[in-house]
This record gives sequence, structure tokens and C-alpha cells, in this order.
Amino acid sequence: MVPPPGVAASILAADFARLGEQVALVLEAGAPIIHVDVMDGHFVPPLSMGPSVVEAIAGQVHDAGAHVDVHLMVQRPEDHLEAFVTAGADSITFHVEATPHVDFVLAAIRDAGCHAGLAVNPGTPVEAVAEVVELVDMVLCMTVNPGWGGQAFIPRSPAKLERFRALIGERPALQVDGGVDASTVGRCAAAGATVFVAGSAVFGAKDPAAAVRDIAQAARP
Ligand code: DX5
Ligand code: ZN
Repeated sequence: MVPPPGVAASILAADFARLGEQVALVLEAGAPIIHVDVMDGHFVPPLSMGPSVVEAIAGQVHDAGAHVDVHLMVQRPEDHLEAFVTAGADSITFHVEATPHVDFVLAAIRDAGCHAGLAVNPGTPVEAVAEVVELVDMVLCMTVNPGWGGQAFIPRSPAKLERFRALIGERPALQVDGGVDASTVGRCAAAGATVFVAGSAVFGAKDPAAAVRDIAQAARP
């Protein structure tokens, strides 16, 4: 089993004063995944959110049959797994650049009953995941440098996605994150991506539900 394909709505761009309503809108529009961006002020400069936010939305997301996808942009992710598992994460993704213990962390995530994701920054080659393909349920190919929403999609990303798909085979989900919208998602899907994280393109839109549907439609061949 791997995380479901489709649009992963990133709440980093949501209105936190009405988070529940915003999550409901995108779930009703059919988003199979809610993506939670966790930043520690070290691996990336900003601070964002932690397990309490996952806990606050997990029941609502699960009731809709969707997944909570935690994207850890933190140093030493091994120190934080338990808190996110307990809070209700379905998948946990960490960065290959953030720990020397990649094999250990992937196994620990699976042992906790979650899907294990491995994220790769734009400057890191695809071969960084080669040794652990069997332990990975999802590869996250960053299509911007992590840390901020609203950045421009890095144009060389589709070629990298093709190299990822060739390396990992058909089984793992391949997620893209950063600058994904209705104009960039088609190239990602054609290159083998299956999970499309979108933050500002969804929650920055006047109608977030329509934005989810537009991005999903543009991802279809
Ligand atoms: C950035 C985060 C993204 C962010 C994407 O470091 O990992 O998930 O929310 O934002 P957009 O879709 O606005 O590029
Ligand atoms: Zn993310």
C-alpha cells in the first residue's frame, strides 16, 4: 500500500483562524490528502506547525476517508516521529538531507503503521534514494527549495521526476511539492508524479474547492 494519488492540499497556505472550514472545503472537493508542513527553524529558516495541528484535523480528515500527510522539514526527524504518529499522521515524510539515519527512520515510520516518505531537495540527486527504494512508500521530489509557500516551480523538475520514476519503479507514490498549480501539474503527472501538493494554488484561490478540482483535472492525461 502507498499513499493515494491526487491533490494533497497544503494547509500552510490556509487561513488558520478557520482551519476546520478550509479543510472541509478541500475534502468535499475530493482531495484525498491533507498535507501538513512542519518547519523547525533549523533545517529551514521558518517555524510553522507541530503535532497539535495534526491532532486538531486528523479526525475530520479520517472521517472523510482521506489521509493526513506530514512533511517534516526538520533536522533529526527521528526525534519527532512518535509525536506525529500519536497525533494521527497516516504518512510521514522526512528529508534525506536531514539525518544520517535514513534507513532507520524509514523503518521506524513503517513500524509505527504509517506510510514512509523520503523527500529530496532540488539540489540533491535522485540517486540519494537508491539504497532504500524497498523501504519507501513515497518519494517527495521538491520542486522548490523547502521553507516557503508561493515560490515558482523549478522548470527542470519534470526531467528529474522521470529519473526518479525510472529509479524507483512503479510501486512507490511520487509526490511533487512547490509551485504546483493547474499550469504545472500536467508536466509533473506526465513525468510520473502521482501526488500533487498544492498550497497557495488552493488556499490562495477565491474558491479552494474549485482549485482542487481544476488541479486534479489538469493532472489527467
Ligand atoms: C514548502 C512546502 C510546501 C508549500 C507549497 O516548503 O513544503 O508544501 O506549502 O506551497 P505552494 O504550493 O504555494 O508552492
Ligand atoms: Zn510540503
